[in-house]
Amino acid sequence: MSLVNTRIVNQIAILEIDSPPVNALSAQLRSEMIAALQALADQSQLQAIVLYCAGSTFICGADIREFDGEPLAPHLPELISHLERSTVPVIALLHGHVLGGGLEVAAACHYRVALKSTNIGLPEVGLGVVPGAGGCQRMMRLVGVTNAVKLATSGRAVKVTDDNYARLCEHLIDSQDDLLQQGLAWVQRRLAENSLPIKPTSELALDSAAQEIDWQQFKKQVQRSAKSNPAPMQLLQQLARDWALPVAQGEKNTRKLFLQLRQSDAAKALRHAFFAEKKMQPGRSQQAFTVSKVAVIGAGTMGSAIAICFADGGFKVTLLEQSQQALERGLKRIEDEYQRSCERGRINQKQLQQRLNLIQGSCDYSSISEVDLVIEAAFESLEVKKTIFKRLDSVCKEGAILATNTSYLDINVIAQATSRPESVVGMHFFSPANIMKLLEIVKADKTSDAVLEQMQQLAKKLRKQAVTVGVCFGFAANRIYTRYGREVQQMLLEGASIEMIDQAMREFGMAMGPLAVQDLSGIDIGHNARSQYPHPSYDPGYFKVSAALVAAGRLGRKSGSGFYDHSQRTACLDPQVAQIIAQVAQELKVEKTEFSLQSIAQRALLAMISEAIQVLEQGIVQQKEAIDLIWLHGYGFPRAKGGPMFMAQQWGIAQLQQQFSALREKQGDKIWPRLNLAKYLE
Ligand code: COA
Repeated sequence: MSLVNTRIVNQIAILEIDSPPVNALSAQLRSEMIAALQALADQSQLQAIVLYCAGSTFICGADIREFDGEPLAPHLPELISHLERSTVPVIALLHGHVLGGGLEVAAACHYRVALKSTNIGLPEVGLGVVPGAGGCQRMMRLVGVTNAVKLATSGRAVKVTDDNYARLCEHLIDSQDDLLQQGLAWVQRRLAENSLPIKPTSELALDSAAQEIDWQQFKKQVQRSAKSNPAPMQLLQQLARDWALPVAQGEKNTRKLFLQLRQSDAAKALRHAFFAEKKMQPGRSQQAFTVSKVAVIGAGTMGSAIAICFADGGFKVTLLEQSQQALERGLKRIEDEYQRSCERGRINQKQLQQRLNLIQGSCDYSSISEVDLVIEAAFESLEVKKTIFKRLDSVCKEGAILATNTSYLDINVIAQATSRPESVVGMHFFSPANIMKLLEIVKADKTSDAVLEQMQQLAKKLRKQAVTVGVCFGFAANRIYTRYGREVQQMLLEGASIEMIDQAMREFGMAMGPLAVQDLSGIDIGHNARSQYPHPSYDPGYFKVSAALVAAGRLGRKSGSGFYDHSQRTACLDPQVAQIIAQVAQELKVEKTEFSLQSIAQRALLAMISEAIQVLEQGIVQQKEAIDLIWLHGYGFPRAKGGPMFMAQQWGIAQLQQQFSALREKQGDKIWPRLNLAKYLE
């Protein structure tokens, strides 16, 4: 099927691209576009060429699937060159998402006309690569050097109406209007006025303000956001060096960088993350979405943040607490959080007020009788939750979804406290709930498919990355995280220092070291959760360090000390903790191990992978991609490393087998069980 159709109307050629779903620039599309442009070169009467895309968007970028193989001819720069060198003016009509190669194509056209709703962006760095067809160089000439560099190094999309980018387009059209009709009318007007000369972007001058750019300041900003993905910094360094070069030379240099980066480990991992997210998106639902009014039970840190999530998604929320005092504390916490968002420029004053207006407090269960969904975020105790669900069962309308935000407790038991277990589901948010993208939807034995489908749709509306999991201790996420935590504790007993462990995981790319995280969230939280279950008898050191710290009153930041001492402004090491650890290790007669930063990170990852495979094997999670998304969106795993399952795949079965059997030899096959690696890694 042909992807490009040409028709000529009043001496204007319309090149219509139709390559669903998102008009990605595949080799076939590049080739057909070049052929269409070549065919038009013979048309002597032609006055202009209009580039228009069918469907919901303009070209959304390169076809990312092609990046895994060798670059396929014809390459994008060839198409770009045909557009820019056209002997009649070329006008791009933009709508939807004009991203990556799509923006490079648009920038190489002589004019751009867009619907006001259009988004533009150069997201390549988010995929570990850089714009490879002169997009940076042409955008510098169209919107100014600073704005172009920001767009390309941040990878973020902006509205075409954004003050800094509005000059990209010569004409903007109201979004409800017909783009093709209005765009053609604009071209005809300009032709009639004789004001549509050929205007190659490469020949435009750079803005004089570019001389003043503080590149060091730019580097600091990019450094902060780049973490383990080298692409943004490499691109910035190149642009800082090359910005004043003619387009052809600058383009050649960034193309070289693009070709170099496209097969890098980071780029492969980032592509994996992109396609894992797409794979886990819910398909189109046959079911109407019925949730509009929501109640949150419990106005503590979690409950308040969940209420914010829903208000951000436009839902009406009733926040329910036992006492007026607790309720007021929760409402104040919400107001403060919105105030901070406003100060940071994330929302404006009007949005702040709108969102606050969506949240109302109550201490009366009868006020939630008509809500469509309840999320219980009360104290983590089975008895407390059973009592709440009994109450919900008696007050909530028929068909209401009753969700619990429990992190560890058995949702089947909670569901049994109601007469409608089919309506009970887990909705496990990650802290802070209004920031972290992950949402575990926990399917209990009797949860109905209809409820699960509503949850999937809801997650999309809340802009969360949902993974559906089954019931077990800690579900999928906290169960694997607990295994990671267990290994960290074991390494402490074997002689790895606190400092080394946190440094190893930070250097690996985790947002924070695991022991600093423990201090932040409270060592007693996990300790209390674990105390509701029998400890594994085959693992004598199981979280014994945490237990000893809790016994010593070291609960983390909130008590002034935990793994670190927090009495000063910056956390520092405390020799007392080393003593506590040494004492536990001595009592348990733990053999010492030599550690390096690399071996610590490697062992932590092996623990994650081992537990992840068991979670898959037991059917708690169906797809291995879900494991990676859990880590990327729930625990700050570096996106440029793809996730534990992606790393396992990269290491390969032979290497994993070898590492697992060495650990099994030391710690036994209960802790490092034999796994069917081939089933998940081939
Ligand atoms: N290459 C190949 N496939 C792509 C693609 C690309 N650049 N962009 C999207 N797709 C695929 C998706 O994988 C999905 O496939 P599936 O239906 O088999 O799962 C399909 O197109 C629809 O994409 P989706 O993201 O679900 O649509 P959307 O309407 O929610 O979002 C975009 C559209 C364009 C905003 C989004 O897809 C996107 O950001 N794409 C990547 C753009 C990009 O990074 N371009 C630069 C490449 S260097």
